[in-house]
Amino acid sequence: MLESETRRHFLKTLGQVTLLGIAGSTLGGCEWILEQIRNRPTRRDLATLAPSDPDIATYKAAVSAMKALPSSDPRSWQRQADIHQNFCPHGNWFFLPWHRAYLLYFEQICRELTGNSRFALPYWNWTCNRTIPAVFQGGSSNPLFHPGRVASPPAALADGNVGPGVIDAILNETNFLIFASGAAASQRPGTPGVYGPLEGNPHNTVHGFIGGDMGTFQSPRDPIFWTHHNMIDRIWYDWNVVRGNANTNDPAWANYTYTGNFVDAKGNAVNVQSGILVLAPLLSYQYDNSPITSCGVLGLSRAKIDTAALRRFLEQGAPVSIKTLRTFQAVEAVEVPVGGTLSRTLRARDPSVMDQALSSADTRVLIRVAGVKQPPSGDFFVRVFIDKPDATAATPITDPHYAGSFAFFFDPKGHDHGHNDAAFLVDATKTIERLNQLNRIRTGEEITVQLTAVRMTEQPLRQTTLSLNRLEIQLVRSETIQPMPFGLVPDRR
Ligand code: C2O
Repeated sequence: MLESETRRHFLKTLGQVTLLGIAGSTLGGCEWILEQIRNRPTRRDLATLAPSDPDIATYKAAVSAMKALPSSDPRSWQRQADIHQNFCPHGNWFFLPWHRAYLLYFEQICRELTGNSRFALPYWNWTCNRTIPAVFQGGSSNPLFHPGRVASPPAALADGNVGPGVIDAILNETNFLIFASGAAASQRPGTPGVYGPLEGNPHNTVHGFIGGDMGTFQSPRDPIFWTHHNMIDRIWYDWNVVRGNANTNDPAWANYTYTGNFVDAKGNAVNVQSGILVLAPLLSYQYDNSPITSCGVLGLSRAKIDTAALRRFLEQGAPVSIKTLRTFQAVEAVEVPVGGTLSRTLRARDPSVMDQALSSADTRVLIRVAGVKQPPSGDFFVRVFIDKPDATAATPITDPHYAGSFAFFFDPKGHDHGHNDAAFLVDATKTIERLNQLNRIRTGEEITVQLTAVRMTEQPLRQTTLSLNRLEIQLVRSETIQPMPFGLVPDRR
């Protein structure tokens, strides 16, 4: 972005601050607004809240109030879920900002309907708490309970989908176009989506694991949805602030406006731009200091953040791109039974190519599973292995050949919002480095890729095959700026 464009963007941002619910319609000077920003409510880890915590009580009251509103009110429970059904972007780079806006206005509606202006939506840290939290259980007398879920404790989310290693690897991804899912011209472009590791693995898995409405585009009918997406939002926040990674400055992303998607606390339609939403955690809410992957063992030390610099960093973003150096393609249309394995040889055995991948920090080996017919339910997920011809659905993720997993979240009503023929990205760079160190990849041999379709615990198996039409290894060069962490430092001892 040019200097002048950046400045214009900044001015526009100031003009839209009210849209983030800061100033509201109340009269008051700059000081009043600054005070609001300084005292913005803190979104906390659900596991740290007592059942009697005001944020739990308010959440329950807000859900009850929304359920009691007539359907003519766009803030009513079903109308809020319909926003998701009608507009949610998946498999592209609008996934993160759109869901951030959705939560932001939902949180403001909760404050308005309960009169608790201090309310902040808690987040469910499923990395550290793998079963459905107690606050969502019970029966219909609990407003946070939702009928029809498939998972119930002790069923627990697995390490390979939400474990600390998975989340740390996602947070270590420096390229926005991989971290945030692929570029697209609009929120529902009608072209196949590209799922990055955050959306494709933990995000999709949690939807499918809980099942029932959570496995569908009506998922916001389950109160657990909002706390799930708050964890996703927290990961984006950590990626930007704790790790200091830059969002793209591409105007096709930053200037993209969600028109008529959302309503504010009073039920009035609001339009909001993706590029403004990067500031929401600085203006409208903040996150607690709970470390999200070290699970209570280590804390986050909050050093003094240079807020002005952070704000500039977030507003400006950075030029981000991915240059494909080489692509190795293996299969045309193929079906893999759930419980089975697909093994294909990719002619990537060019020593110089792999040397390149192993020598430069900016070069990656991405496995791209493309042309995937998404199953209408999250009954199974997929594991990817490198050079493990005897892999089966039982091969554990601790195997050194394991590269990553992905899962499905799909609209069973069958509208094609770029879901069919979607592609899933799994970064195999670390696996290849490891196999190289173990001398398990040898010059002169071909490289093979295995996919295992693994049934999800407790889910009825409605679709019995994984169907895809392209399996590729892409050697890519990631182009973005170096991360610049902003003062929230994981307290590693
Ligand atoms: Cu648009 Cu996790 O849902």
